[in-house]
Amino acid sequence: MSINSTSPKSFNRLENILIIGNGGRENSLAWAIQKNELVKKVFLIPGNAGSKRINKCERIKIDINNRNELVEKLNFLKIDLIVIGPEIPLANGLADFLRKKDFKVFGPGKDGAKIEYSKSWAKQFMQEANIPTANFWKVNSLEEAKNIINSLSIPLVVKADGLASGKGVFIPDSKDECIRAAESIFNGKFGDSGNVIVLEEKIQGPEVSVFALCDGERYVLLPTAQDHKRLNEKDQGPNTGGMGAYSPAPLLGEDDLSRIIKEIIQPTIDQLNKKNIDYRGVIYFGLMITKSGPKVIEYNCRFGDPECQTIMPLMDQNFVFLLEKCSMGNLTGGEKINTFDKVSGCVIATSKGYPQEYQIGFPIKIGKIDSIDCQIFDSGTSISRNGELVTNGGRVLSIVCQDKDFDMVFEKAYKNLKEITFDGIYFRNDIGHQVRKNFYKKN
Ligand code: AMP
Ligand code: GLY
Repeated sequence: MSINSTSPKSFNRLENILIIGNGGRENSLAWAIQKNELVKKVFLIPGNAGSKRINKCERIKIDINNRNELVEKLNFLKIDLIVIGPEIPLANGLADFLRKKDFKVFGPGKDGAKIEYSKSWAKQFMQEANIPTANFWKVNSLEEAKNIINSLSIPLVVKADGLASGKGVFIPDSKDECIRAAESIFNGKFGDSGNVIVLEEKIQGPEVSVFALCDGERYVLLPTAQDHKRLNEKDQGPNTGGMGAYSPAPLLGEDDLSRIIKEIIQPTIDQLNKKNIDYRGVIYFGLMITKSGPKVIEYNCRFGDPECQTIMPLMDQNFVFLLEKCSMGNLTGGEKINTFDKVSGCVIATSKGYPQEYQIGFPIKIGKIDSIDCQIFDSGTSISRNGELVTNGGRVLSIVCQDKDFDMVFEKAYKNLKEITFDGIYFRNDIGHQVRKNFYKKN
């Protein structure tokens, strides 16, 4: 595929970087990007209260939907590279718009973002390219859903087709529950995102997240990661956006990764090319390692959260160059990600009640935190009227540590987490249990 004629020119400078988004993911991207000495400023629209604690970072108050004002501001700030964090602006075509205005943008256009904003489209895409994934049925009405559910004897998963902030997947235990899930989606639980549903064969196995930075034709892989989606220890309770992660995931050896590249990653890139989609951004492969091999559970058009917070401290100062190369379509394909000789782990602290109802506005106290290989990335915080750091979301902040092995990583993370307090703080104590040799000895 030829590189799109709208390829932005290189200004050969990377002084001013803009990140769009307000979560822990975006703060960790900012933290990794500012390490490069060419970078003078990292602006976040809108960022959160934690953004200001990151070197070189500044928050900008502007509505990204007011596009003319946005372009004026970005020209005024002489922005050299834009990184779009969340899926919604990508699905709304913000990357296309900014590229047309001659900005270098890391983030796919609306056509590429479809891998995330339409699950049925993504499943068809995989089917066409023979990419291993669970069997599926695209369903347009409750009647049709009931017929399929009643006619099958395998367990199913029910998914709203469109974006649903990570809440659109149901894993029912019975046919009745399955029908109730379909009913709630068709009754408008997720608005237009639920006009279509996808029924999927329920598959089993450990999950792993793989991230490919793509320039439209070539890609570079980041270290793999494992998220912890369930709210409670022993992987119990409701699904959340993610309660913690570790990287790299030892579950995948070199052979496994080669198989994933051959069966999943390369065919995905080829299929995007075949569809003339000039994908310049990250593809997040949510994989399940089943008995019959790796299968795609989902694609996302963005970095995972909290995987991103976990992986970013493993990047060296060249990370921003990779993002820039992707934005310009000029990766060589031979780039090596320089990770330190360390592993990384992340624990998320949440508000009481998350992922259901929770309160905000509780003061956060941060005591003495290790200054080496330990980061706090705020996810949902703000500054109160009297200038205090307060909670402002379900997932409040993450503590991320690096060390030689995962036992040392999580020992450090939990020790430092004791220094952080707010009313109703909740976190899992068993993040990384799969890779902590001492965990089961102690517990
Ligand atoms: P998602 O919101 O798409 O990340 O899905 C949430 C979680 O649902 C995944 O991380 C899996 O644990 C689970 N899941 C999704 N699809 C399937 C499937 N076909 N079989 C089993 N579990 C699934
Ligand atoms: N960590 C899961 C997600 O970002 O969707």
